[in-house]
Amino acid sequence: MESVKLTIDGCSVEVPKGTTILEAALANGIYIPHLCFHPEVRAVGVCRLCLVEIEKRGNAVACKTPVEPGMVVRTETPAIRDTRRVAVELLLVNHHGDCLTCAKSGDCKLQDVARYVGARPEAVARMRRPAPAFTIDDSNPFFTRDMNKCVLCGICVRTCEEIVGADAIDFAFRGYSSVIATFGNKPLAESKCEACGECLVRCPVGALAPKKARTPAHEVKTVCSYCGCGCGIYLGVRGNQVVGVRADPASPVSLGSLCVKGRFGYEYVNHPDRLTRPLIRRDGVLQEASWDEALELVATKLAEHRGKFAALASAKCTNEDNYVLQKFTRGVMATNNVDHCARI
Ligand code: FES
Repeated sequence: MESVKLTIDGCSVEVPKGTTILEAALANGIYIPHLCFHPEVRAVGVCRLCLVEIEKRGNAVACKTPVEPGMVVRTETPAIRDTRRVAVELLLVNHHGDCLTCAKSGDCKLQDVARYVGARPEAVARMRRPAPAFTIDDSNPFFTRDMNKCVLCGICVRTCEEIVGADAIDFAFRGYSSVIATFGNKPLAESKCEACGECLVRCPVGALAPKKARTPAHEVKTVCSYCGCGCGIYLGVRGNQVVGVRADPASPVSLGSLCVKGRFGYEYVNHPDRLTRPLIRRDGVLQEASWDEALELVATKLAEHRGKFAALASAKCTNEDNYVLQKFTRGVMATNNVDHCARI
């Protein structure tokens, strides 16, 4: 692939043609603050934090400007620093600053850029004006939507449009009243939002926050067992409990995306209602039994019904378990009556 050589902050770098200045800088370990840029959706250049100076050309937003041969870029001039700092302070002016109770605290891009540019609390306090307080949308069972924390970067809108294809949200209203809204500004649960959570995982701030957030102690790479797609996932595990699911960006099947079931439907694994002991119906009542009793009964009944049998497999079993069940049904029970609940 054709490459382009340029200079960023005095460092000579070489990147593929078509790369933007921001991508070139980040790929070469040079941080340029950014908020509305996400590598998986189209760049729109609305936050203006990635402003850089290009020699003999003036200022440009790095996320929208492709590199050119011989370009000389400076990311940290006094004028750029001032402009960025004021841009961040203006975002903070309209941002509900309850970081201590925010689920994204510590993992928030606004906190990162505010620290990096040296946002001045006194300047933010001086510029603060009464602004509309938005009602928190709690209708989605898995995440909340709090427009008081939204920085209007639009990453969620582009994610919903470009990655999910659902187009459930867009910009609405004007000026201080601008929000990301569903059609008719209805709660998410009443919109065509599929609750897949793709916007949630890309939101740079706490505007979209999971209702259940527990940091896993470690992760286990596996394959989602809900349907036949085979999306790549990482199960977040803490102690003996599954506490979260993260999409595997390297999965050739799902390319880092998940549906609502794969991302949020993991609690059945450790659910207290889940049976952990076999039950046998005696005199019409289900009673706890030992594994030996249960297996003996099942073997007897299966032998009685050979050839008159049907198996319904579960998406909540592993693919290997389901494979074994169909093999058993065909090979031992002598029938092809096999079905699976994931065909929905
Ligand atoms: Fe470039 Fe927002 S990251 S303008």
